[in-house]
Formats: sequence, C-alpha cells, structure tokens
Amino acid sequence: MKKKGEIEMETVLVTGGAGFIGSNLVKKLLFEYRVVVIDDLSMGSLSNLPDSPNLFFIKGSITDENLIVSIFENECFSYVYHLAAVASVADSIERTLYCNEVNMRATVRLLEEAKQQKDKIKRFFFASSAAVYGDEPTVPKSENATILPLSPYAIDKFAAEKYVVNYYNLFGLKTSCARFFNVFGTHQNPNSPYSGVISIINDCFERAEKVKDVQFTIYGDGYQSRDFVYIDDLIEAIQLIVKSDESLGNVYNIGTGKETTLNNLISIYEEVTGAKINIVNARERKGDIKRSLANIDELSKLGYVIHETVASGIAKYWKEKHR
Ligand code: NAD
Ligand code: UD1
Repeated sequence: MKKKGEIEMETVLVTGGAGFIGSNLVKKLLFEYRVVVIDDLSMGSLSNLPDSPNLFFIKGSITDENLIVSIFENECFSYVYHLAAVASVADSIERTLYCNEVNMRATVRLLEEAKQQKDKIKRFFFASSAAVYGDEPTVPKSENATILPLSPYAIDKFAAEKYVVNYYNLFGLKTSCARFFNVFGTHQNPNSPYSGVISIINDCFERAEKVKDVQFTIYGDGYQSRDFVYIDDLIEAIQLIVKSDESLGNVYNIGTGKETTLNNLISIYEEVTGAKINIVNARERKGDIKRSLANIDELSKLGYVIHETVASGIAKYWKEKHR
C-alpha cells in the first residue's frame, strides 16, 4: 500500500480509528506516523478524521477475518492500537452474541495476525474498560481489585484483556492494556440511546440553547458516580503506556482518581452553559454500576499527570463545540 517515493515513516494500525477516542488518537499519531484505520462506521464517522496524505482508511469490520489477514499481509506495523468495539454496556445486553464477536473473538484474531509480526511490533495496545470491576463496593479500584463483570461487555473486555496479556507471556508479542474509566470530549457521538452520558447531556444543553423544555432521562436516582477523564489526558496516558518498557504485559487504569455523580454533571453543565434542561428519572438500567472510581498510582509511576478536572474538561468541550 506504500506509494513509490513516499517518505519512509513507521506505520501504525488503529482499529476503531473513526470513533471518538480513535479519531482523537489518530490526529495525534499523524504528527509522527503513517496511520492505517479500520472502522465499520457503525458509531464512528469519516468526518472525525483529518485530511492527511499519511492516513489510510479501510471501511470494514474487524470480524472480517479475510480483511484482517490481508491488512497484515500488506502492511508492517510498529504499533497496533486496538480500539474497535461495540462500546456500550446496554447494547451488549441487547446484542450479546454480536458484541462477543466484535469485542472478544475479533481481538484474538488480531492478536494471531500481530503474532506473525511480533519482531516488528513495538506495542499492541488494547482498550479495556473499568466495567470489568463491576459493583464490588470497594473504591477506588486498583488494578488488582476484585473483578466482577456485570454485563456481556465487561465479560468480553476482561476475557480479551487476558488474551492480550497472555500473548506477551506465551509468545513474546509486546502487549499492554488499559482499563479506561469514563472518557469524554470532542467527537463523542451522542446520537444513540447507548452513547456516553456526557455526550448526551452536552447535546441536550446544545438543543436547550435553541428550544424550550429539552428533556434528559437519568436512569436511576442520579447519584451513581463515574470517574470522568478528559480525552486529551487519556490520549497522553495511552502514549505513556505504549512507550514504556515497564508496561509490557501489564494492565493500567486510566482515570482521574475523582468521582462525579450524574446530578453533579447537570449542575456543572448549568454553570458552564447558563442554561437549564428538564430532568426525568427512569428505572435504573440493568447491568449498571453504582460507583466507579480509579486508583491511578500505577499510571502515575509512568509519569501521568492529569491536566483537566471534569469541570474544566466540560468547559473545554463546550467551548470547542461553539468555536
Ligand atoms: P466509539 O463507539 O466512538 O468507537 C468505537 C469505534 O469502533 C467506532 O468508530 C465504531 O464505528 C467502530 N467499530 C465498532 N464495531 C466495529 C467493527 N465490528 N469493526 C470495525 N470497527 C468497529 O467508542 P469510544 O468511546 O471511542 O471507544 C473506543 C474504545 O475504548 C472501545 O474499545 C471502548 O470499549 C473503549 N472504552 C471506551 C470508554 C469510554 O468512556 N468512551 C471507556 C472504556 C473503554
Ligand atoms: C462507559 C462507556 C463504556 C466504558 C465504561 C467504563 C460509553 C457508551 N460507555 O460505560 O464503553 O467501558 O464507561 O467505565 O462510552 N445514563 C443516564 N442517561 C442516559 C445515558 C446514561 O442516566 O441518557 C447513565 C447510565 O445509566 C449510567 C451512567 O449514566 O449510570 C453512565 O452511562 P454511560 O455513559 O453509558 O457509561 P458506562 O455505562 O459507565
């Protein structure tokens, strides 16, 4: 796929690169690398991706084994960032078998192909999730806390994570995993009932600027909490992990060490935007976690520093959308 005369740059694969986190990562990587993205555009969008002669987009599914084999036959990757997934807990309860194929089985297929290039690949990075900790009440969660997955999504992420770590131990493929807590920021798609909560709230406040009586449904009492991490901090953390030798075969939390309830989020948005929306409370969702909070000591040892609080991150997100 490399054209004649093209400058020799290292090549990176980003699965799910047209999605929220993937596209923000791609933007950063393009400063240094030639980037190949595979995405089926089920949640992602081409409009998230920058125009660049060093970006190669493949529209397809990571479950398409022939496609994955041919990508690895045609390219030689220095880094693989595996982010493609059905990223919703609620969706995984609706479409369990399909989500298992995408979130778990396709990960093993990617590992198998990466194994063939293990001498060239400097890191295979896997995006796992804080969802693996489930509802065991002790917080904050350190990486060796009890694992209690409450949803097919969380089960698949944990199983995939185990494969990723084992490919390092068994075959020497250089792998690392991170359990993302709740990430927010630009390019997060608000258009599905399963979208990340901040993107939905953000969308409601945007509409409230134009129309009256915009409604947001809180599932439960709104006192459930999450550790919300701003996208730029997350991307920085991912890069610290993939560039460190210490992180080989290891799993890291990426969060902030601070928790915020949904009710707090609404207050922050009211303050940032000066607008109000109507809140309706509905029944708690199945598989939902009550409290989620990261212990980030291990990541801090790699040099991780948080730049944004949830309030300053929301203010940035809001400003970016209103430029
Ligand atoms: P996202 O939905 O925006 O990104 C996922 C991307 O994968 C989308 O572009 C989607 O179109 C693509 N995709 C889905 N199925 C695919 C398939 N079969 N083949 C190819 N592409 C496919 O979600 P995100 O928030 O950017 O999540 C990225 C990764 O981070 C996911 O693995 C998710 O589980 C994980 N994660 C996200 C969060 C968060 O708070 N956003 C937290 C923990 C873990
Ligand atoms: C999110 C991510 C998941 C990730 C996990 C890590 C998405 C879609 N999900 O799941 O990929 O692995 O964090 O911690 O990015 N809620 C409402 N009203 C709404 C939408 C949501 O009340 O309209 C509630 C939910 O019931 C939940 C909370 O908000 O209690 C957060 O939901 P959501 O943003 O979907 O995040 P998680 O389920 O934590």
